[in-house]
Amino acid sequence: MNETDLKKILRDLTWQEKVGQLIQLSGDFFSSEDALTVGPKQKLGITQEMVDLAGSVLNVAGASKTREIQEKWLQKSRHKIPLLFMADIVYGYRTVFPIPLGLGATWNPELIEQAYKVTAAESKAAGVHVTFAPMVDLVRDARWGRCLESTGEDATLNAAFARAMVTGLQHVETGKITGIASCVKHFAAYGAAEGGREYNTVDMSERRLREDYLPGYQAAVDAGSELVMTSFNTYDGTPVTGSEFLLKQILREEWGFDGVIISDYAAVQELVAHGIAADEKEATLLAMKATNDIDMKTGCYAKQLEPLVQEGKLDPGLIDEAVWRVLKLKNKLGLFEDPYRGASSERERKVLLTEENRDLAYQVAAQSMVLLENKNNTLPLAKNEQKILLVGPYGDNQNLIGLWAIHGNTSDVITIKEAISQHVSASKFSYSAGCEMPSDYHFLGEFGGSKEQLERMPLAERKQALAEALEQGKQADVIIYAMGEHTMQSGEAGSRTDITLPDVQKEFIQEMLALGKTNILVTISGRPLVLTEEANQMDAILQAWFPGTEGGRVIADILFGEINPSGRLSMSFPYTVGQLPIYYNGFQTGRPLNSETHKGRFVSKYLDSPNAPLYPFGYGLSYSNVELSSLTLDAEEMVDQLHVSVQIKNNSSRGGFETVQLYVQDIVGSVVRPTRELKKFKKVYLKAQENTAIHFTLTREDLFYYTKKMDFTVEPGDFNLFVGLNSRDTLSASFTLK
Ligand code: BGC
Repeated sequence: MNETDLKKILRDLTWQEKVGQLIQLSGDFFSSEDALTVGPKQKLGITQEMVDLAGSVLNVAGASKTREIQEKWLQKSRHKIPLLFMADIVYGYRTVFPIPLGLGATWNPELIEQAYKVTAAESKAAGVHVTFAPMVDLVRDARWGRCLESTGEDATLNAAFARAMVTGLQHVETGKITGIASCVKHFAAYGAAEGGREYNTVDMSERRLREDYLPGYQAAVDAGSELVMTSFNTYDGTPVTGSEFLLKQILREEWGFDGVIISDYAAVQELVAHGIAADEKEATLLAMKATNDIDMKTGCYAKQLEPLVQEGKLDPGLIDEAVWRVLKLKNKLGLFEDPYRGASSERERKVLLTEENRDLAYQVAAQSMVLLENKNNTLPLAKNEQKILLVGPYGDNQNLIGLWAIHGNTSDVITIKEAISQHVSASKFSYSAGCEMPSDYHFLGEFGGSKEQLERMPLAERKQALAEALEQGKQADVIIYAMGEHTMQSGEAGSRTDITLPDVQKEFIQEMLALGKTNILVTISGRPLVLTEEANQMDAILQAWFPGTEGGRVIADILFGEINPSGRLSMSFPYTVGQLPIYYNGFQTGRPLNSETHKGRFVSKYLDSPNAPLYPFGYGLSYSNVELSSLTLDAEEMVDQLHVSVQIKNNSSRGGFETVQLYVQDIVGSVVRPTRELKKFKKVYLKAQENTAIHFTLTREDLFYYTKKMDFTVEPGDFNLFVGLNSRDTLSASFTLK
């Protein structure tokens, strides 16, 4: 539709029709059975008339359902304004990729762009127009359950993934969105909730906010993300959904964002609970003034916008602007021409979970898993030489897709047991669960009415499961433990203070260790767990995250050497929960700890734990043996650019991927600077015995930061430069910026 016609629609809308465009309701409101819609309406206190005018739908997907709702709505709509279907498709629709923390570990934004392109194609076929992704909240505290949804702790890496995800999802061709629109979230700094406790306060300097927390969102906006979702948290005393500083000043004015801002679920109304608005009316006013366009799932806008205008408290122009942004989005998606955007059951059959999509999920999972330990080259396992016993609650379990894969289907998942049995003969392989998932079921909280997991296994059964595993363990040479967190122990509202493996699993491992066999741990988790004990106990540890539809197969293929593991951590694994928050790019302090073996007091350290994490940012092992040498800078002084090269040699007969990482340290600044910051990275494939050079170009802009005066610029002076295969073990050089 051309802009003139669209403007005409805007002009013709009644107040209530305008308000309707600014509210989003969930699927239950759109049921054809009246009885079903009464409860939700009463809860929100809104009329059927308002429901009929709603502009967008939350979390309904599937071609037949979306088509049915759209058709019915269009019949009622005076101006034939189509509904927008928005849904949480965070790391795959039907084909489920690894959780984003695993995607971060691929260090391969190009590959992830492909994954999101596929995700968009599947979602589009199912009638989804907007996905609430990417989630780019920077995370430094593994107690927070939503680490699962983030690509990690580093601004540069997160920004690279944010760009890739938006580009893949929207897939713009000749100016048109051929994929689906992306809604980057949760703006801003939601990942910095104090103590890692969900929905908790966020408070930090503006410098830290801008330097570390905002680049991910900004990269998504710069890549063209059509929408932004506000976060639940406060920043500097103001909940984001009512923050003119964040939404209006930074997002709209500084970054020039002209798309739609949607509140997170009920976040407008929560301004009252936060204690910044006395009632729903005030909450509505604050959110509107901050330019939050759509109210997700509350009755605030529906009930309060009109009275606010009538009382002269709200400029009606703000409502027009918000409605205009929503209409423009609908038009940009081509909904006025085709309100279904080609969604159909036939299309679903063609594009969902195809062999190619599964294959891509396999490749992504292959690059996401991180080999954390491999003593004496325990892995890869030789086929049919040793007797293998698989134990643990994830051994024969299809729940490998994690909490946010709500449109995925666990029945598509091949279990670890099934995948291993394709590598070895039955006489050499056995399975025994041995123990259950967590012992603390009552901590999980109810979710979506599912209580199935609230029951523990009776004591007698537990004893028997252990006895069976011990018996089989005696016959085995190698024991593989498929262990980890229950799906419900991470994700939204999945904060924990104890982030070790669940007690039952630890106790079980202890019993099995007494058998003196070779022990391999495969961890399934939505966060970095504290694996300090297991690092000592196990011969090998493979961090597999929630690896998605193809996860089981990839785990088996890594264990048996068909895949050379190449994942590198994008979030530090703490040594103990007491170190949190922990991240690689902290400041030096006035009393730095220069050696972990330091015996005295009065330096910045813990008495009872190292400062260093168990596994640092950027870390991961492979089956190759790769070495860096000859770090060279093309000049000692840098004006505009510096060319950096390093030699990389694969001293093994195994080809594989390596990730070369370049960090810098600004030694003296007008404010203190991190001890190292990632600036560049390259993931390269090295053939067996390959010896080659890797080149980086560092530019002046790469060294920009927020100075004492909050100028985003560089300050001339001396820099250290580090290149390594992780953030800890690096070669170093130095240069002077002129
Ligand atoms: C979450 C968002 C999500 C929204 C809609 C909220 O609870 O914080 O990430 O997009 O629900 O489902």
